[in-house]
Amino acid sequence: MKRTHTCGELKGKNEDEKVILAGWVDKRRDHGGLIFVDLRDRYGITQLVFDPVKGDALFNKVKGLRHEYVIQIQGTVSMRPDGMINKNMPTGEIEVLVDDCTILNASETPPFLVEDDVSATEEMRLKYRYLDLRRKVLQRNLLMRHKIMNAMRNFLDDKEFIEIETPFLMKSTPEGARDFLVPSRIHKGRFYALPQSPQTYKQLLMISGFDRYFQIVKCFRDEDLRADRQPEFTQLDMEMSFIDEQDIFTVVEDLMAVLFKAILDIDIQRPIPRLTFSEAMSKYGVDKPDLRFGMEIRDIGQHVADCDFKIFTETIRKGGMVGALVLEGGARYSRKQTDGLNQFVVDLGGKGVLTAKVGDPGWDSSLSKFFSADDIKEVNRDINAKPGDLLLIIADEKKNVQRYLGHLRLKLGRDEGLIPEGSYALSWVTDFPLLEYDEDEERYVAMHHPFTSPQLDDVAELDQSPGNVKARAYDLVLNGHEIAGGSIRNHIYEHQMKVFSLLKIDQEEAKEKFGFLLDALKLGAPPHGGIAFGLDRLAMIFAGVNSLRDVIAFPKTTAALSLMDGSPSTVSKVQLKELGLKLLGQDD
Ligand code: AMO
Repeated sequence: MKRTHTCGELKGKNEDEKVILAGWVDKRRDHGGLIFVDLRDRYGITQLVFDPVKGDALFNKVKGLRHEYVIQIQGTVSMRPDGMINKNMPTGEIEVLVDDCTILNASETPPFLVEDDVSATEEMRLKYRYLDLRRKVLQRNLLMRHKIMNAMRNFLDDKEFIEIETPFLMKSTPEGARDFLVPSRIHKGRFYALPQSPQTYKQLLMISGFDRYFQIVKCFRDEDLRADRQPEFTQLDMEMSFIDEQDIFTVVEDLMAVLFKAILDIDIQRPIPRLTFSEAMSKYGVDKPDLRFGMEIRDIGQHVADCDFKIFTETIRKGGMVGALVLEGGARYSRKQTDGLNQFVVDLGGKGVLTAKVGDPGWDSSLSKFFSADDIKEVNRDINAKPGDLLLIIADEKKNVQRYLGHLRLKLGRDEGLIPEGSYALSWVTDFPLLEYDEDEERYVAMHHPFTSPQLDDVAELDQSPGNVKARAYDLVLNGHEIAGGSIRNHIYEHQMKVFSLLKIDQEEAKEKFGFLLDALKLGAPPHGGIAFGLDRLAMIFAGVNSLRDVIAFPKTTAALSLMDGSPSTVSKVQLKELGLKLLGQDD
């Protein structure tokens, strides 16, 4: 079928050309005799003009055109009359005077109009996702996603990385989240798992000698969803041999520089700033700090350890922390606003937040009676609080203080407009603990994943104080989102077994779960390490949207549903029987 041009292409230079266009009817306007139709395709919109002088047949046809009809037209490009030129539209100088029109397909009345400021609910949009995807903003986002993937592939190909596909049906090898399982029909009672990531395969590829691997690949994790989590998401997965952390940082920073330039035309600051995990936690209360604004958490313990306020002194005596945030100009906050902040912390599970309005001199606060004027001056000086500022103070266990103040900082950053529009802040977070203690399971679990190598200086501590051992792991953070994470791996069999033993995975279980990888470690495994990017997250930030759903063609809801095809769905008893499965409570 012939199209001479797309709907985003025609300009004044095409005046008088005979053209054929095809697309969807975006709008139809009847204007005293003439009928105007906006014809849309993914490249843009072109204004068509139907004139009754071209005959009744054509004119009657156009009167029947409705939203989303698919048509093909022939016509002549004409300059728009003066005063009708639309400079905001790439095709705004011209219109096409239509000679002939073919209706390629009619459309029922669409459940919502395809327009930028769509009024339909997100549920409705997801149910009719193919219509939603006709909207310019989603088309722009998916095009940007394509460009990101293209730039990644070109960059990595240039650097001698090879893209290798790895299986989707694999052995269940838990990596932190819950697996999606696929029952085997041929081997009843046995299951494949969908990969949480290609972690074990990419390590095996290093052992095979591929040296530099990458893959743009779907990963599947059955975990609770949030705006920046999907049950199936895409990673740019990478692995390299004969490298250390610095080699990974260099490649990734080069890649980020290329992506920022290609997609946003921004030159990023190099090297990307680095923080240790413990710095990130103490300054920002999270391991993925948003560095687009300051307002660091301050420890005021030394100033309040001997004061008359029991809550502070008791907290310090028990080894806890008294932490503070300074909100510049926050003294204007009303009682209602400070109560709101208190409630915010209570909702997070805390006891609340104390506030003090910094005056000149003294504090306007229920706390001021517990401190001398000199003490207050000293605290103000140390944390750089000035008259007119608001102090937000929490006393609790250190990890709670960091968590609550970290959340408050982000809330205040957003509420107060402290985050400059269109700004980007990248950082590396390094020196993560290797293990974290799981109170419920009463054992250590891997903070990254069990294949991560401990830092060599800390190996001696593995037995005495495993909680203090740091990992050779790193995350890349952009605007408060973890966009990539990786590590140097255990390539020596004994080291891997040692980590398993700390995770209370005994020899037998290790063999059963990861035997294939352990065998391979004994057959000439080179030193290796890698990283994986959350491609959806990166695309989300580059597109300037707040949900992964806006950069994924067919996403799931936060309840893990696909509203369009209705999955997950029930299956027939016959299908279950073939798989040797029976649902609980199901009759034969
Ligand atoms: P990790 O589990 O940190 O590492 O995942 C890497 C990156 O993937 C993104 N991500 C997600 N994106 C959307 N929805 C999710 N549910 C989701 N989960 C993770 C994040 C994260 O930084 N195999 C290791 C990598 C390695 O060690 O090389 C891994 O998968 O942006």
